[in-house]
Amino acid sequence: KRFLDYFKKNGHAIVPSSGLVPKGDPTLLFTNAGMVQFKGVFLNEETRGYKTAVSCQRCMRAGGKHNDLENVGRTARHHTFFEMLGNFSFGDYFKEGAIKYAWDFLTNEMRLPKDKLWVTVFETDDEAATIWKKSAGVSDDRIVRLGAKDNFWSMGDTGPCGPCSEILIDQGVEAGCGEPACAVGCDCDRYLELWNLVFMQYNRSVDDKLSPLPSPCIDTGMGLERLSTVLQGKKSNYDTALFSPLIHCIETLSSVKYGADRENDVSIKAIADHARAIAFLMTDGVLPSNEGRGYVLRRIIRRAARHGRFLGLKEPFLYKVNAMVVELMGEIYPELKAAASLISRATKGEEERFFETLERGLALLEE
Ligand code: SER
Repeated sequence: KRFLDYFKKNGHAIVPSSGLVPKGDPTLLFTNAGMVQFKGVFLNEETRGYKTAVSCQRCMRAGGKHNDLENVGRTARHHTFFEMLGNFSFGDYFKEGAIKYAWDFLTNEMRLPKDKLWVTVFETDDEAATIWKKSAGVSDDRIVRLGAKDNFWSMGDTGPCGPCSEILIDQGVEAGCGEPACAVGCDCDRYLELWNLVFMQYNRSVDDKLSPLPSPCIDTGMGLERLSTVLQGKKSNYDTALFSPLIHCIETLSSVKYGADRENDVSIKAIADHARAIAFLMTDGVLPSNEGRGYVLRRIIRRAARHGRFLGLKEPFLYKVNAMVVELMGEIYPELKAAASLISRATKGEEERFFETLERGLALLEE
């Protein structure tokens, strides 16, 4: 709410989250970022009644170009389903405006300590580096230049894209991998990427060609879960108020304590993450099936059920964790409440079938 209010105060239109299934866009499996619902505006195929916007977008990164599924449960920061805070400019402000807003929001509104913040820019983006230095007062040694893997963002294989600049927070040596080479850009949890500012400048076509967008645009994205972690003084997204009730629910169902065993923790975290993904996918009309989006959902349910088995759960349980997701998030997303009984039935049915298959398979294997 404070994010939305901050940008509203600065003239942005608050735009509601779109669903997880992108409308009329066959190039994407799921909405993987806040900019997806604005793709047509970036490409100038569509106009809206505003030139700047802000949203809190539900996103899914499992399957397709941005796929975090295998990391879930193993790191403190990855999710399949998450909520992305973003501000957007469609031909209005560009690099300087985006950098000023982001820095002001984090350091003045959220009061994050400046001495723990780092920024990255695309290796050739001198302009962004200069703005960070001159407008935000970030010193040279805190501005790191990285290549396309980290600092060039694309929505999918085709579509809007551009160089980007990230703001990271140093969570301290204890949060990291401890390797001597650990620095900004390392994959561990020490330098947590908080906010990505994309300077949308190109459209990538099927033949991989980049053509300039009609006007330079801004697309930013910051995970609500990561910001919560930092503001609540935690080291893991799963320890924040967004996840604790889910973690407790899984502890109660399985009688396994969170925080006592590394592998059990992976399972508990994966189930908590997947329960949110399952509930929201079903809310947005995806049901388990053998192809496309339905197949991704089926894999997520089976993956969660398998982690449940690791915790000793042999009966369907996931639908109960889903009920907790609805309770936790239903106020903000009334559509979740409306879909509650469908979510429960569809998840339980899928779990039952999977457990039966597993029992049969394991018996055969024993024989
Ligand atoms: N599209 C960019 C991202 O997902 C910024 O929102 O990181």
